[in-house]
Amino acid sequence: MVTLASEPANYSVVGAQHGCAPSRHDFLCLCGVIYPSTMPIDNPTDRTLAELGITNNSEISALFATVREQFDHQLAAKTGSEPEYLALHHAWLGRKSGILSAITDNWLKSAPPALKPVVGQSLNELKRHVEGRMESFRVAAEKSAAEFAATREKIDLSLPGVSRPIGTHHLIRQVFQEIEDIFFSIGFSVVEGPEIETPYYNFEALNIPEHHPVRDDMDTFYLELPKGAPGPLLLRTHTSPVQIHTMEKRQPPVRVIVPGKVYRRDNPDATHSFMFHQIEGLAVDSDITFCDFTGTIDYFVKQFFGEGVKTRFRPSYFPFTEPSVEFDASCIFCGGSGTAKTGGTCSKCKGAGWIELFGAGMVDPAVYGFVNYDPKKVSGFAFGIGIDRLAMLKYGIDDIQVFFQNDVRFLRQFP
Ligand code: PHE
Repeated sequence: MVTLASEPANYSVVGAQHGCAPSRHDFLCLCGVIYPSTMPIDNPTDRTLAELGITNNSEISALFATVREQFDHQLAAKTGSEPEYLALHHAWLGRKSGILSAITDNWLKSAPPALKPVVGQSLNELKRHVEGRMESFRVAAEKSAAEFAATREKIDLSLPGVSRPIGTHHLIRQVFQEIEDIFFSIGFSVVEGPEIETPYYNFEALNIPEHHPVRDDMDTFYLELPKGAPGPLLLRTHTSPVQIHTMEKRQPPVRVIVPGKVYRRDNPDATHSFMFHQIEGLAVDSDITFCDFTGTIDYFVKQFFGEGVKTRFRPSYFPFTEPSVEFDASCIFCGGSGTAKTGGTCSKCKGAGWIELFGAGMVDPAVYGFVNYDPKKVSGFAFGIGIDRLAMLKYGIDDIQVFFQNDVRFLRQFP
C-alpha cells in the first residue's frame, strides 16, 4: 500500500487498518468492509492529485498500482456468480459512479500538464486490466451458469427415485375391508357409532336390563366423569348399540354393517384383549325370514373362507336376538375331518371338525319396542363378528396380541 504524502488523517487510519482505499461511497471501503455512514472516510479517487499531494510520476505509478491491487483483491474474493459480476462491474466500470470514471474526472482531467501523459497512460493500463479481467469474469460466470443448468438438465428422470416407505393397511383394517366388500355386494352399507356409550344403548335398549347375568360377561370400563355430569358413560362392549342408533334414525328396510372397536375388561392372553374389533350386521324389513338369515351368513362365510367351507349353527343365547345362534365353519385347517394333515388330531378344531365363528340371531321383537318399530310388521336378523378372531383363523395367527404390538416384522407380512 502506497503511503500518500499528504493524505488526511482519517484516510490514513482507514487505509492503514484495512490495507485498501475507501470507495467513493463514504460507507463502503473498496475491500468490502462496511463502515457506519457517520464515519468520515476520505476516498482518494474523490480528490484531485493536487489534493492528494501527488507531484511526480513515480507517485502516480504507485497510486495506480495500489488501485489495481485493490481491484485484483476484490476480484479474487468473488466466487464467480453473475450477480457478483454485475456488482463489481458497476463499482469499477459504471459510467457515472464507477471508480474508473472517478479517476478520469478527478485525477486525469485536472492533472498538471507535466503529469497528464503518465496519468493518462496509467489510467489506460488500469482500464485495460480491469476490463480484461472483468471480461474473463463474465465468461467464467456465464460458463458456470450454463454448466449449472446443464447439470440440472442432466438429471436422469428414468432413474429410480428415492423411495419413501409408505405404510400399508394394518391386517385388521384389511380384514374389515374384505368383509365390508362382501356385504356391499349384497346390498349392505356401512354405518359407525360412538365408542363411548350410555348404559341405555349398550344394555337396556338391547333388552339387557340392570342385573341381567349377561352383563357379567361384559364387565365394563366406566368413565370417570366430573361431578354433576349427566349419567354414567362406558366404553362400548360390543357394536350392538349401533343397531339401536340406526333403527332410531332409519325406517325399514335397514341393511347395515358396523365396523368398530369394542372394550371388555379381559386380561390379555393369546385369545383375549381389552380392546378388539367387531363388525355388527343388521337387516330389518317387512319379510325377512330365518332362511334369509342363514343364507346370508353362509354366503359370507363361503366368500371369506372359500367355497368349500360348510357352515352350521347351534342354539345360543343373546338377550337381543330370538332365536339366537352360534355359527360354526367346517375347520379350515383340517377340511372338517378333525384329523391334521400330518396325521393325529387337528389342533385347531381339537378334532371336532368345526370352528366356532360368531354369534347371531333373529332380532328379538322386544328390541323393536325400544326404537318404535312395529314388531308385528317387521322382522330381521343381526350378527356380531369378532374381526380379530376371524383374521387369526384366516391368516394362521395364534396370538391376538401381535395385532397390537406394532412389530413391523409382523405387519410387513401383510402388505
Ligand atoms: N353383541 C354380541 C357380542 O358381542 C354379538 C351379537 C351381535 C350376537 C348381534 C347376536 C347378534 O357378543
